[in-house]
Parts: sequence; C-alpha cells; structure tokens
Amino acid sequence: MCSIIGIIGKNFVAPALVESLKRMEYRGYDSVGVATLSTNRISVRKGIGKVNQVNSNLNLAEMEGLVGIGHTRWATHGGVTDYNAHPHPCCSGDIAVVHNGIIENYLQLKEELVSKGHLFRSETDTEVIAHLLEDQYNASRDIKVAMMGTVNQLEGSYAFVAMFANGTLACARLDEPLVIGISDNAYYASSDVLGFLQYTDQAMFLDNRDIAIMDITGTCIFNFGGESVTRSVTKVAWELADANKGEFAHYTIKEIFEQRISIKAATYQEEHKIKAFCDAIVAAGKIVVTGSGTSYHTSLITSMLGARVMKKRFEPVMASEFKYNMDSVDKDTVVIAISQSGETADVLSATKLARAAGAKILSIVNVPTSSLARTADVSLGINSGPEIGVAATKSFTGQVSLAYAIVDRLSGGKVGFERDVVSDKITKMLGGSAGIERLVNMTMPKVNDIYLLGRSIHFPIALEGALKMKELAYVHAEGIAAGELKHGPLALMDKNAVVFVLNADDKTYSDTLSSAHEVKARGAKIIGISNVSNDIYDAMIEIPKMDNELLYPLVEIIPLQLFSYYLALHNNADPDFPRNLAKSVTVS
Ligand code: F6R
Repeated sequence: MCSIIGIIGKNFVAPALVESLKRMEYRGYDSVGVATLSTNRISVRKGIGKVNQVNSNLNLAEMEGLVGIGHTRWATHGGVTDYNAHPHPCCSGDIAVVHNGIIENYLQLKEELVSKGHLFRSETDTEVIAHLLEDQYNASRDIKVAMMGTVNQLEGSYAFVAMFANGTLACARLDEPLVIGISDNAYYASSDVLGFLQYTDQAMFLDNRDIAIMDITGTCIFNFGGESVTRSVTKVAWELADANKGEFAHYTIKEIFEQRISIKAATYQEEHKIKAFCDAIVAAGKIVVTGSGTSYHTSLITSMLGARVMKKRFEPVMASEFKYNMDSVDKDTVVIAISQSGETADVLSATKLARAAGAKILSIVNVPTSSLARTADVSLGINSGPEIGVAATKSFTGQVSLAYAIVDRLSGGKVGFERDVVSDKITKMLGGSAGIERLVNMTMPKVNDIYLLGRSIHFPIALEGALKMKELAYVHAEGIAAGELKHGPLALMDKNAVVFVLNADDKTYSDTLSSAHEVKARGAKIIGISNVSNDIYDAMIEIPKMDNELLYPLVEIIPLQLFSYYLALHNNADPDFPRNLAKSVTVS
C-alpha cells in the first residue's frame, strides 16, 4: 500500500526520504518518487520500480533541499507508469503532493479543474489534490485556507502531504493513517511510524479530519473546520532494531522462525486490559469475530474455541462481508476485530458500522499505534514486533495464541494452552525445515494444484495453508472442509493433484482418513500432516501430539508456512514481496 513521508529539517532531507521509503517497502508498491525544495523551486524525480532501482537511476538521495516529500505508490487509479508515480505537482510547479487512499469524486473535480484551465499530467485521482490546492492558494495566499478549501471538496479516504514552494509542508487525513514525528533536527509526516522511527520515537498521531501545517519552527494542527486542536506527543515503543533480516535470506523465513518466541510474547497482557476484554465478552449477548485474510482465519479459530469452550455463540464474519450481514448487530453485541496492521480498510469499516449500531468493539492487533488499536473500546496487542514479509506468519500464530489465552482465562483453563510447552513443540517443527525443503523439491515439479483437507479446528488451517501457498508461491491451492469433498471437489482429484491431509489423532481422525482414501483412489498424491503414520500417505510430516485437540492449529501451520516459503523459492518468486499484494490493505 502507498507510503508517504515528508521531512523538514536542518540538513538535506533526500537521503532520509529514501531511507524512510526503504523502511516502508514492506507495505508493497510499484513506483517511487521524491520531491525536494531547493532555491525556492520544487524538483520532482519519480519512476517505476523498487526504491534502490529508482534511486540508482535517478539519484533521488542526491537531491538538494531542506524540505521534501517521498512516496511509494501501489496503483489504484491509472496504470503503473512514471507519470502516475507520486509526487504530483500542480500547474505552476509550486505545490507537489503525495497521497494514500482514494478520492472518490476525482473525475468530477478533475472536470471542473480542467474547465478552469488546469493541465493534468497523470491518470491518478491524487493529482486533483495538487490542482485544487493551487486553485485555493492562488485565491487566498493562505495555506490553512487552501487546505480547508481543498479537504472540504474531497470525498473518499485519504492521507496526503503537500509541499509548498515557500518551504511549508501541509498534511491532512481522513480514514487513512498519518503520523507526525518530532526530533531535535526535523519534523516528519508519515503514513507509518517506521517511516521516521530511525530518527525519532516522538510521535503525534493525527485524528481523522486533522490538518497539520509544518515549517522548521513547529507544527500547528487544526480540524477541517479550521479550529485549533491539540494532539499529544507519544513515545513510540516499537522495536525498530527488529526490522532487519539478520542471518536469514528473507524476512518471511526469519518471521516463521521467530514464532518460537512470538507465540509467547502474545500472551503477556496487562491485567486491567485483558480483564476488561474478557468482561466485555462475558457481558455480551452476542459475539461477532471479524478480520480479513489470515486474520479472518484467526476469527474462525477464535469463534470455534469460544463456542466449544464457553458454550456461547461466536459468529465469524469476513470483514469485507460485514456490511451485508449486520442486521443482528446491536448494543448487545461485542465485535472482536482481529488485524495485524490495524489499518485494513474492510476491518475499520466493519468496526465503524458496528459501533454506529451500538456494538462494543474489542480488538486484537499487532501494531499498537494503529487506527484499530486506538479506536477500539479495549485493544490487546500480540507483541509480535514488525512483520515485514507481506504474507502473515508470526502475526497469525500470535493472534491464535492470544485467543487461547483469552479463552483459557474465560473458562478456567479448559484449553490448557501452556506457552512454553507449545513453543518447544513449534521449535521442533521448525527443526524439520530442511525436510520440508526436500519435500518441495520432490513433490512439486509437475504439480499445478494443491488441496488441503481438514475438519473442525483443522479446517481454518487448511484455508490458511492454502492462502500461504497462493500468496508466496503463486500456485493454485484450496483449503477444503474434508466432509465437503464428495459434494463437489472430488471431481478435481487426479494424479496431478497434491493433497495435504490435516489428520491429527483426534475425533476428526477416522473421518479424515476416509477422505484421504477417496482422494487416493483417484490417483492424487497425499501428504499427511499427523502424529500417527499411515500407509496411505505418500509423504508424511510428523507433528507432535497435543494435549488438547484444539491446540493443533499452532503446530500444523508451521510446516505449511515452511512448504509455502520453499515453494516460493522453487518457483523463483520473492517470498517477502509477493506480486500484486500489499501488507496493509487500506482501500476497500
Ligand atoms: C495473508 C495476508 C492478508 C492479511 C489481510 C488482513 O498472508 O497477509 O490476507 O491477513 O490483508 O491484514 P491485517 O491482519 O493487517 O488486517
């Protein structure tokens, strides 16, 4: 997803702009640009490609100026071209803009601006902001008035930073994150604290409908109506040091290995917060659990755990489907929203709708400073540290571990999640990574389709394993509730299919084994993931016996993550930055 950085400093800002864009690369993007102000003129350099590549083609880091803005773009409106990359200048070149989000009424605004003589150079929705600001500034010669006049015409969700040729940076946000960083030598405006955390841990989080105007003497904040507002300065306790690959070839494999630790970190919670979280669940008449992608798979597991252990109805709803399925959400409802980034647009929109219907919002997030964490009634962090690989790995197991801790607290320990015991079992699974790599090389040369079968608590892992294989290795993979095979998917089984069977020795065992027989009879290759061997498996990945069958997800997902990672390498895909995907999906 797009990243924004703006800096006003006492030294040339271009090297820091480029560094910041690199720090935020994990969010996913297709083009890069920087604009700086030098001798009262704004220069813009931008192009498609990765930050290093565009920097070495265009010498971004060598641009002169004490004020600048930078951007990585993830195309939404208009193709991936140099022209469509940000920053976008206005006609005179005296204002340049970087933006994240979507301006829904840009076509209408563009028509009006063109009829007034503005010349557009890109196909983006962003460019209207630059021309609107120019229009407003020419009329008022006042940046605050120009900003208010502009935001009041924009519809959609956005965060943008505009650089003016007089050395001022002005920014505004509505439903997209924007944070101000403050150090002794500079002010920063960024979509992500990682954009400036290497320079300062002092941050001011702008609220929705805030405008900030910054020059080297300080920052003034107003609301869209022009009234001054105060935002407190927070010390951001986010471990930047973790945001490197260490001895690993990729962030993804580093993060897979970190799960030994991160599943434990997820369960350390402040007493008053976890109490408030659990009290709200107990008091609720109805509990809806929501999330997107991997976090939705955690929602499925959380709902199963809650219903089984607490004998209470938990309903999982995909965040993107929430708005169509909220007739029964009311003031008696608690919505548990699960998200790694805490910025996923579908999740934020679900919680907004639920809150408007009177529901209480609980959240489980990784990024503690995110919009979801800050707007929920109670928020618990999973403490996984930065997850840079675009595909969720440690955040998933962190979320699931926290779900166990919550359900155990609510039920007097009925699941029996013991973090040290599970961490040891995960360590053992990780020790088998070389075997998984060999399995990829043995099984995959001729295979186009992978299916994963599981029942009950194993079904969400079948879905999650399939998602990892699609994202990381670009293979067709499908998670199927094993009992559904005979209702359709069996038609697809033949000698070209590889089928993972999630078959722990629990109450799903014999039913799932029958499913494996049905598939085997059609010629498919079977990889069993189980704690008991069986001749039917062409290959088997052994998992440890768990004391409670509800605990299997945490050990079953590890070999599937590893398999997906090695399959990505086998398929020459970049596991950290899969094509077409963004880490934080801030558009619906
Ligand atoms: C899968 C993946 C995505 C995210 C989804 C939600 O590996 O990364 O499916 O899980 O976009 O993101 P968060 O959890 O940040 O809300």
